[in-house]
Amino acid sequence: MKRILIVNGPNLQLLGKREPGIYGAETLDAVIAAAVERGREMGVHVDAVQSNTEDVIATKLGDAIGVYDGIIINPAAYTHTSIVIRDAIAATGLPTVEVHLSNIFKREEFRHTSMTAPVCIGQITGLGGFGYVLALEALVRALGSEK
Ligand code: DQA
Repeated sequence: MKRILIVNGPNLQLLGKREPGIYGAETLDAVIAAAVERGREMGVHVDAVQSNTEDVIATKLGDAIGVYDGIIINPAAYTHTSIVIRDAIAATGLPTVEVHLSNIFKREEFRHTSMTAPVCIGQITGLGGFGYVLALEALVRALGSEK
């Protein structure tokens, strides 16, 4: 069975309470539960982690090597700043999809740049929590076509 790790960055533990006009009313637990359920339907195992610190996220990504087949990551604010997380994603060698709940291109200019997207197979932005389900479907398809 394929194994997928979902990695969530800073402040995403506050989903549901945090700026709901931007990020929606759904909690992180609900977003993850929907992805786990979609994974179950597709026959893939889904785990999820969340951290507010760059070092923990980099460590979790490194630990994914040899354990997971693909990664879904919402690096949150680190998206726009973190070469550490970019390098950690690249170091895994695993197909990775970047997700953002909000449409980062509709927001402040500093959010228009992603340090991490260039080392991902693709990015889903602006589709709310459903973006995680879409990312999972894309990843499963990409893994299915791997030689
Ligand atoms: C976010 C977008 C980022 O710009 C922001 O810093 C976040 C969440 C999103 O999911 O829309 O924390 O990654």
